[in-house]
Amino acid sequence: MTPSVAVYPGSFDPITNGHVDIIRRSAEVFDQVVVLVAVNSEKKTLFTQDERVDLIRSVFADQPKVKVESFEGLLVEYMRQRSIRVVVRGLRAVSDFEYEFQMALMNRKIYPEAETFFLATRENYSYVSSRILKEVFQLGGCIEDLAPQVVIDAMRAKFRPPRREVAS
Ligand code: PNS
Repeated sequence: MTPSVAVYPGSFDPITNGHVDIIRRSAEVFDQVVVLVAVNSEKKTLFTQDERVDLIRSVFADQPKVKVESFEGLLVEYMRQRSIRVVVRGLRAVSDFEYEFQMALMNRKIYPEAETFFLATRENYSYVSSRILKEVFQLGGCIEDLAPQVVIDAMRAKFRPPRREVAS
């Protein structure tokens, strides 16, 4: 039997525990999950594409079913080139639905074999997003349970204030 492969695309700027949960649960259903760091033209990112890939790789270093890649271009082009048919996306609330529905239909329009599988987020992550995580962290709030430790360390490094030269 051919292995079942799903792609989980996103900006992951940075990966949150909500994403981690979706990836783990997808890996229980599919033989392989490709976490694809893709470009969302609407977003300006804090982390570079390589940094986002490295962070996700370090979170899933011990998970052979999870592969992490990056791609610039249409998601469905990536899928077509690799004969992948399934897209996984997480749904947090009704407010996500319109955007997700639009993407799912557009992807299927360009690549009719594409099917989008939506996973309902775990309740305790339903309010978590990369955007809100960065904002809370930057303003000194605690995000301990909401992102992997490597991400918290990376954000600390990003937001560390530049050292001021002390005049002698
Ligand atoms: O985490 P995000 O930012 O909500 O993810 C959106 C993403 C990256 C999955 C979407 O913007 C995307 O698929 N980008 C790749 C380019 C593409 O195919 N755009 C058309 C989508 S219908």
